[in-house]
Amino acid sequence: MNAEALIAALTAELGPATVLAGGDIPPRNTHDWSTMSSEMPLCVVRPADTDGVATAMRLCAAHGVAVVPQGGLTGLCGGARPIAGAVALSLERMVGVEEIDPASASITVKSGTPLQTIQEAAAAAGFFIPLDLGSRGSCAIGGNLSTNAGGNRVIRYGMAREMVLGLEVVLADGTILRNLNKMLKNNAGYDLKHLFIGSEGTLGIITRAVLRLSPQPGCTLAALCGVEDYAHVVKLLGAARRGLGPLLSAFEVMWPDYWDVVTAMPSVRNPIAGKHGAYVLIEAQGTEEAVDAPRFQAWLERQAEDGLIADAAVAQSLADVRAFWGVRDACAEFPQVLGQHEPFDIGLPVAAMDEYVRACKADLEARFPKVISLFYGHIGDGNIHIVVNVPGVNEQPTKAIVETVYDQVRRFGGTVSAEHGIGLTKKPYLSYVRSEAEMTLMRRVKAALDPQNLLNAGKVL
Ligand code: FAD
Ligand code: LAC
Ligand code: ZN
Repeated sequence: MNAEALIAALTAELGPATVLAGGDIPPRNTHDWSTMSSEMPLCVVRPADTDGVATAMRLCAAHGVAVVPQGGLTGLCGGARPIAGAVALSLERMVGVEEIDPASASITVKSGTPLQTIQEAAAAAGFFIPLDLGSRGSCAIGGNLSTNAGGNRVIRYGMAREMVLGLEVVLADGTILRNLNKMLKNNAGYDLKHLFIGSEGTLGIITRAVLRLSPQPGCTLAALCGVEDYAHVVKLLGAARRGLGPLLSAFEVMWPDYWDVVTAMPSVRNPIAGKHGAYVLIEAQGTEEAVDAPRFQAWLERQAEDGLIADAAVAQSLADVRAFWGVRDACAEFPQVLGQHEPFDIGLPVAAMDEYVRACKADLEARFPKVISLFYGHIGDGNIHIVVNVPGVNEQPTKAIVETVYDQVRRFGGTVSAEHGIGLTKKPYLSYVRSEAEMTLMRRVKAALDPQNLLNAGKVL
């Protein structure tokens, strides 16, 4: 049988510790963080280095067996979930920081390294990795780059793509594409790395990356603000862009429905009294506390005087900053608090968001009278998260929920994925927001790089 021959060949070339089959398949490798059920792969392959990844790909190509790349398995749309009969190729043993180069302000890492490990290594060397997500402790940099992760500081530093100088990638046929470039400028031909960033493991397997390092901020300032309504949020965003300029590092908005659920969690500290039409977490990173903290405070006072902020708590310490982010990151506990729910990461023009929220909520409530729908997100980036749960049912009416949310996205000219990617769960809706010409070109790129359709076969497209 082809499958058994492949497992035997993988085991012979990579060693028994690298290939786990049958009862040895760890349960964690059978699913990601999406709401999709578990799936058993043919086997889990955990290479120790790039050559091992190349060998695995070469053998899978020879046997015509598909491969699902796996990083930290925190993806929310089934991208790393195994495909029955396919090999799950986990980067979990390819962990570590290889080099920090202060002169070019770069860090070279293996792709299985957890994001938080990279953040800590950069900090220890006096630098800063601006990429930051709630899943920082579990997600791996290879997964972050393959999903072009967004996260909390996109408004200042851009998405994961912006932080990449070089990549090493293994192609579907096992070819190693090594371009560990450290130069900020390199216009020699096509910039191939961008094909792999954000393509969710469908075009190649990222094995190493060179990332840009930013200077460590001298201080981090934060305020949690209660705001009258969304119109005030939009004005406050404009004021923050103008008044805080390049210091503005996050502008996160939580609608009252989200706020009420998370501030009722025992783990969350609510620093604001009273009820407001919207809640905004504003973060600014400065170079010098003595200069920037009074400037931040004065800016906040001006916004209060102008009526843009109704109430605000200002962080007095890093512990406060963390506690404020705790309100925003509490969404990680939704699986325990809400049970089964559908998560979304839609994108919309900032000005249209509140109208969208009202239209979407009305449609959901018309279909499911008891529905719980919570809205929050990276509003400064035009990215809103929604979680939807219909209480009291055995199984969530996922398809109807998803269609309701995306029908309105299409109407408002938004995107079905601002940051988490398409994976499997959003695949039927990609064509809502991409033209036929774009879909055709995506298929042609896929066919050119992976003619046997081995890499994450059936995902995204
Ligand atoms: P995985 O889930 O393992 O894989 C994701 C995709 O990348 C899959 O398609 C997989 O096949 C592919 N892949 C993985 N590694 C490689 C590789 N080395 N080469 C090629 N393909 C590969 N996302 C955001 O963008 N912003 C957020 O703010 C955010 N917050 C989150 C908070 C929580 C609590 C959770 C659970 C998730 C959050 N996410 C967020 C989603 C998720 O953490 C990101 O998508 C993350 O980038 C996935 O990384 P991972 O290593 O877990 O990837
Ligand atoms: C967040 C994840 C869900 O921003 O993307 O919390
Ligand atoms: Zn997000």
